Amino acid sequence: MVGIFAVMSFLEEIARRRTFGIISHPDAGKTTLTEKLLLFGGAIQEAGAVKSNKIKKTATSDFMEIERQRGISVATSVLAFLYKDKKINILDTPGHKDFAEDTYRTLTAVDSVIVVIDVAKGVEAQTEKLVEVCRMRSIPIIVFINKLDREGKDAFDLLDEVEQKLGLTTVPLSFPIGMGYSFQGIYNVWKENIQLFDGDSKTKIGASASFDSLEDPALETAIGKTAKETLDEELELVREVYPRFDREAYLNGNQHPVFFGSALNNFGVQELLDCFVDIAPPPQPKSSEERRIEPDEDAFAGFVFKIHANMDPKHRDRLAFIKIVSGTFARNVPYLHVRHQKKLKFSSPNAFFADKKEIVDVSYPGDIVGLHDTGNFKIGDTLTSGEQIHFKGIPSFSPEHFRYINNADPMKAKQLNKGIDQLMDEGVAQLFTLELNGRKIVGTVGALQFDVIQYRLEHEYGASCTYENLNVHKACWVEVQEGGEADFAGFKQTKAKFLAKDKQGQLVFLADSAFSLQMTASKYPGIRFHATSEF
Ligand code: G4P
Repeated sequence: MVGIFAVMSFLEEIARRRTFGIISHPDAGKTTLTEKLLLFGGAIQEAGAVKSNKIKKTATSDFMEIERQRGISVATSVLAFLYKDKKINILDTPGHKDFAEDTYRTLTAVDSVIVVIDVAKGVEAQTEKLVEVCRMRSIPIIVFINKLDREGKDAFDLLDEVEQKLGLTTVPLSFPIGMGYSFQGIYNVWKENIQLFDGDSKTKIGASASFDSLEDPALETAIGKTAKETLDEELELVREVYPRFDREAYLNGNQHPVFFGSALNNFGVQELLDCFVDIAPPPQPKSSEERRIEPDEDAFAGFVFKIHANMDPKHRDRLAFIKIVSGTFARNVPYLHVRHQKKLKFSSPNAFFADKKEIVDVSYPGDIVGLHDTGNFKIGDTLTSGEQIHFKGIPSFSPEHFRYINNADPMKAKQLNKGIDQLMDEGVAQLFTLELNGRKIVGTVGALQFDVIQYRLEHEYGASCTYENLNVHKACWVEVQEGGEADFAGFKQTKAKFLAKDKQGQLVFLADSAFSLQMTASKYPGIRFHATSEF
């Protein structure tokens, strides 16, 4: 009997977890929404309790400030709380575009996402990129259209824009009553009720008035005849134009529920959260090179999706974030580090809560544990109970900026190499080694990372480096097609000085312009050039 109860509780533990990320273009309201979800979840008592984890606009050229803020973001990397008996894990995704790669990697560890869109700005560039990554992986997406207290685009136009630009099939599960100055509240399509907005609800949570039916005469009295007529017409249109919500279609990435609200004013957030815990997926299976791993398997398996350097330069230890895919992860139990083929055990794995982290004895699929690491881990590493598993799906994307990195202090070559190695394992940037002469090239998503690397090499490793400009447009991973050997030989000869190896030893073509990439691709049809390392 005990056995049955134990099994039940393991399955229940899995079923009650919701691990997701919130993504948005900077300033759409991701931080505010995160905070309000914690507030509604009872995890914090007042707004402002969780420090903003975003890298402020003013800091774009100030990497010292970024280093300081990185310290804050350790604490907000995972925010967990209980809501209606569900264990919610929110994984932080940096909005700053220079850290987009961090966000892509975090998306490998979420089971669903909420996309925040600013009602006035509509779909912005960063949102498009991030949603594309989610769509590629069929991650279930919910859209939250924020800042309804401000004048913005028409709700139907926005839904159109989301369909056109993001390629989503929208299903409004809430609908605004007016907007900006005339914003009065929300019709909850999901629960079929109405919540009215009180312009001064920032400090309160919950609506100023609610109605269970559109037919309630008090509703018309409250919002006015014109607004009620408009609402009726709009809801008729919603029913005619948009498909009915189908949970399977949402879970398969074929339907995308949309909510409207104002995070700052606590409005529409509860509707979102209540629906989210009902419909969002529990921990999902994950593909590995060997087989698909199901969350309810007894044996433990998990992977590293993020490494955070400790802020204290005197102790060069780091926190490796592991997503648990199957089984349970227990303290002081030896697990196999598959890449190193050695057993490691952890005496103080950290679990994360809204405002603190603490040592945890057992964690379940969907959970994130933080492991103290002195350099054993790199992003993508797998830990298991013993099975040889290599998880798929942590690709590298072509960096946007490239520079030669040179050693500025010949006495510190060892420190420099170690520093570069570890920073690359953390995913701060990518390293390429030129085939021709062995020179090292650092590639980053944003120009900012060059300063961060230089600063950290100096302060954490005692090494100094200089950079040299290099004209590279894109790094493309090279794949030789069947029968493409002759093309490959020709390509290697003519493009020798543009060939490099990435850290995994994969061959990369450093194209100096879009034109040259296009020409090369058409000249050597036996070779395929990929913008990501996983193909
Ligand atoms: P981000 O994490 O996506 O970058 O956005 P964040 O939540 O920091 O929000 C960006 C700005 O938008 C903030 O103002 C925030 O207060 C505001 N905001 C968020 N939700 C709403 C909303 O529903 N309505 C309105 N009107 N504003 C909203 P800020 O002035 O840049 O920062 P702060 O000084 O208020 O923190």
